Amino acid sequence: MKRWMKYIRPYLPYFILGPLCMIVEVIGEVVMPKLLSVMIKRGEANPSILTPGFALTIMGIMIVTALIMMAGGIGGAYFGAKASVNFAADLRKDLYTKVQSFSFAEIDRFSTGSLVTRLTNDVTQLQNFVNMLLRMALRSPGIMICALIMAIFTRPSLSVVLAVSMPCMLLAIFFIIRKGFSRFSRVQTKIDALNNTVQENITNVRVVKSFVREDFETVKFQNTNSDLKQTAMGAMRVMIFMQPINTFFMYATTIAVLWIGGKSVVIGGMNVSDLTFFVNCVTQILSSLMMITMLLMTSSRALASAKRICEVLDTNSVLSDENATQKQKAVTKGEIEFKNVSFRYYKENPEEVLSDISFKIPAGATVGIIGSTGCGKTSLISLIPRLYDADEGEVLVDGVNVKEYSLENLREGIGVVLQKNTLFSGTIAENLRWGDDEATDEEVSRVAEQAQADKFVRSFPQGYETMLDQGGTNVSGGQKQRLCIARTLLKKPKIIILDDSTSAVDTATEAQIRRAFREELTASTKIIIAQRIGSVKDADIIFVMNGGRITGMGTHSELLESNAEYKEIFESQTDPKSAEER
Ligand code: UTP
Ligand code: MG
Repeated sequence: MKRWMKYIRPYLPYFILGPLCMIVEVIGEVVMPKLLSVMIKRGEANPSILTPGFALTIMGIMIVTALIMMAGGIGGAYFGAKASVNFAADLRKDLYTKVQSFSFAEIDRFSTGSLVTRLTNDVTQLQNFVNMLLRMALRSPGIMICALIMAIFTRPSLSVVLAVSMPCMLLAIFFIIRKGFSRFSRVQTKIDALNNTVQENITNVRVVKSFVREDFETVKFQNTNSDLKQTAMGAMRVMIFMQPINTFFMYATTIAVLWIGGKSVVIGGMNVSDLTFFVNCVTQILSSLMMITMLLMTSSRALASAKRICEVLDTNSVLSDENATQKQKAVTKGEIEFKNVSFRYYKENPEEVLSDISFKIPAGATVGIIGSTGCGKTSLISLIPRLYDADEGEVLVDGVNVKEYSLENLREGIGVVLQKNTLFSGTIAENLRWGDDEATDEEVSRVAEQAQADKFVRSFPQGYETMLDQGGTNVSGGQKQRLCIARTLLKKPKIIILDDSTSAVDTATEAQIRRAFREELTASTKIIIAQRIGSVKDADIIFVMNGGRITGMGTHSELLESNAEYKEIFESQTDPKSAEER
């Protein structure tokens, strides 16, 4: 409850006013039949009293009561909606912030589809519940209790009927709801699966189409969709009994009351107006009970969703900077050091992706990393901005362990152009300003020039205002890579890491990017991962990697002399004969 108070407190007035307005409605609902009963009773006792004036007075009172009830109803609905919508918006915001703090491993554990469901559908379930709760929580029990008291006062002996029917009805409903809860939990999991399928398909629609896999994907979707349908039907099948059971008890009780009460009327122990009023009370009691059960039904669904929301909120990212000791520190020089670093993605898997890596890169140096695919290059650089944490050993930036920086300061100082990079929907300028949202137009075009992107951007009719599609799909692969480099440069990071970021750029343009890096980014440390020797050969030092280890370090000419593996890669890329063999 403490957790939810955080979302209730700022809107407490709405949370209080909503139910209060509903109480006004409750009073009205009880007073109305009472007025009717009074009129009948007085008329019965003294028919001469039934003058048009008397009827008009009663009618006037009834109209005013109805108007007050209406105002209460509208107020209740308004404040209920305001409270629940704000509650949900704040909750969504916190969930979103939480998800942003997750490491890759945590996102994979939940799956993106499930996170989307939790942020949307699950929050909506809770919102509906809160709304219903505010409108019904006082109203239905209020009506029920008032009507019950009135019924007992009117005819205590007849109330025995209620004493039997109410517990029976509650028992039946409790049984249904218990069955429903587990089924509703399963429905949410099936929505996760559906979201996962839809998301994967739509994000990768180009691959799906190029492999002509639409039919296969459609079948996959149909399977998850019908799975969801079956599960939802299962839950509905249980809930469907709710209405008939309610109606059954309603009529059975009314019949019993009429039968027993009717006898009393005949013998003369009870008058008609009391019986009418009593039947009215019974209807109100049972229909309120029905509303309460509806509320319980929604609550069983909301409970399933709340559990899923709490799972996200309770996950504390392993990659947090809570215990960092130098939160104020920023990356100022760009020195990097690895001390006996080992790393695995799956902690249960004994095989290391990086084993016992040690090296030191001075500030401002250019480092090339080369090695066969899957040897651990991306994994190695991921440890510098703490996308993952090393299992053993230490990663130091400017002589301080990366875990001691605040994540924000650390990542602010390190610009990584990831291998699997993406752009966002919006203009080119907006995308580039991800690096620095206050950059001037001159600064933006300056970094674009360094990344050799300025020329092609200007060739577009709208230049920097050209709209990019989601993922940057409306520019070529090489153009996208250059925009990603420019975006990172705008951050003016002390450490720049390019992970195979010029693989789709032609060699001449790549050479120009390298020159710009060499001449204009002298103050930053540059790490360049590449498949082509040409991309790294001018570096101050080149690391050769194999099987998660650094097997060679040196300049291009030193490695050609001393490292057989490097020599082999070099020859395979320069010697026309082996190039043919490849
Ligand atoms: P890397 O992704 O570090 O290799 O994966 P790399 O050198 O950069 O390869 P290329 O040149 O980009 O292709 C190293 C090992 O870690 C595993 C991979 O299967 C690979 O064997 N790995 C990678 C994971 O287990 N999980 C991941 O999320 C990424
Ligand atoms: Mg890689």
